[in-house]
Amino acid sequence: PVLVVDYGAQYAQLIARRVREAKVYSEIVPHTMPVKEMLAKDPVAIILSGGPSSVYEAGAPQVESDLFETGVPVFGICYGFQAMAKALGGTVAHTGRREFGGTELRVAPEAGVLLRDLPASLPVWMSHGDSVTEAPAGFTVTAATPGAEVAAFEDLAGRRAGTQFHPEVGHTAHGQDMLTRFLYDIAGIAPSWTSDNIIDDQVAAIRAQVGDKEVICGLSGGVDSAVAAALVHKAVGDQLTCVFVDHGLLRAGEAEQVEEDYVAATGVKLKVVDAADRFLTALDGVTDPEQKRKIIGREFIRVFEQAAREIAAEGDVEFLVQGTLYPDVVESGGGTGTANIKSHHNVGGLPEDLKFSLVEPLRTLFKDEVRALGTALGLPDPMVWRHPFPGPGLAIRIIGAVSHDRLEVLRAADQIAREELTAAGLDRDVWQFPVVLLADVRSVGVQGDGRTYGHPVVLRPVSSEDAMTADWSRLPYELLARISTRITNEVPEVNRVVLDITSKPPGTIEWE
Ligand code: XMP
Repeated sequence: PVLVVDYGAQYAQLIARRVREAKVYSEIVPHTMPVKEMLAKDPVAIILSGGPSSVYEAGAPQVESDLFETGVPVFGICYGFQAMAKALGGTVAHTGRREFGGTELRVAPEAGVLLRDLPASLPVWMSHGDSVTEAPAGFTVTAATPGAEVAAFEDLAGRRAGTQFHPEVGHTAHGQDMLTRFLYDIAGIAPSWTSDNIIDDQVAAIRAQVGDKEVICGLSGGVDSAVAAALVHKAVGDQLTCVFVDHGLLRAGEAEQVEEDYVAATGVKLKVVDAADRFLTALDGVTDPEQKRKIIGREFIRVFEQAAREIAAEGDVEFLVQGTLYPDVVESGGGTGTANIKSHHNVGGLPEDLKFSLVEPLRTLFKDEVRALGTALGLPDPMVWRHPFPGPGLAIRIIGAVSHDRLEVLRAADQIAREELTAAGLDRDVWQFPVVLLADVRSVGVQGDGRTYGHPVVLRPVSSEDAMTADWSRLPYELLARISTRITNEVPEVNRVVLDITSKPPGTIEWE
């Protein structure tokens, strides 16, 4: 792998993704990892990320100078650039010229490999207080900015380079080109991280782990569990049984997508549990959001557990597939192994006497890679590109008690909004587009010659990177108008469509 050494800023994951976009496998490691351990991972290159500290601060993370004697190509970014300069005998100083945000990079006449053939002046993204004032011996300085005389350098003989600015962020023009040049032209790495190779590797790994044992997998309708199951199925065929609990709270067409399209595309053995009545009965009259979540979580575990028992009774089930992604692994400290579990993040806490080992074929992957795999595995587009959808489903988008009729109303309105968003070609521009039914609110309207007394629905399109923060999406007025007209015309119970223009914080994405 290419190791991305994390110095504690948020940039490490972004760098790791950019390296993967260049078709080179990357892994994030903490800066506390000794060089010996890094070498044990057989790195083809090491990238030192940015970080919040000053290299001169007491206790600032340093780069062990051993690192530069290993012969492994190294790229330093921002803090990593300074740490590298200092470790190799250059000078880093507090020049009083700070740069935060966009600035202008002036490429030197001797542009080197990293910056060759790029425009002489480029917008780049900076975030630094200290600056490198003198490059280490053997390095050529290839660019400057108004606040940094040494903004990029490289030492081709030593296969080392670095930039004070952040090539991994979108605000830096040609940033991806620079990273790619480091990987291919300076470090000499051949691109090989492709969907086909990932599939081959995972299939081999799953076979080795599972052997001839049986595996189960819960499908939610979301892309992660769908891709994880498809990979496992490719590896071990009918040793895998998928369970789909239809809780009756999905959107129009989603159950069919799993029950028909997914099975047609993958050929997996699927056990469908139609539990809609059970969930509706349990939710009868419940209006409190947390209460709804608890009930749905509880019922889900009961139903899944029952299905798992039935399947286990028939065969030797030892493994449970889980769609854990790389960001979860990184954020939880990068723990390894496949411990026996009692609780399941997505499925809810399974009881103690149902013990499975986990199969997690996506735990090295980012979401965009999972989508690419889904496509390579032949999954239908609507499933691969489905927006995140909460486990409790439409129950937390009906403000008020959940009922069959209210679900039908919300499904109809939601389907129109989704159809129009897709028709406008904007699916991939929004993170999520909840439609919310204010079931206990009524307002007066007029339709044809008659007075109506109907319910409002709320459109809640949001843009986000990770759902932790979000902004309301500025959808085109024409699109909003079409959605509004269609919903009020086609869904008789709804006579008003409103737009939620609250960011998160202070609002959350969902209304409950
Ligand atoms: P909020 O509403 O907290 O949502 O801004 C953040 C993200 O989480 C999803 N969400 C849930 N997902 N069970 C889930 O599986 C839940 O109870 C739940 N509540 C919110 C929401 O759709 C958004 O993507």
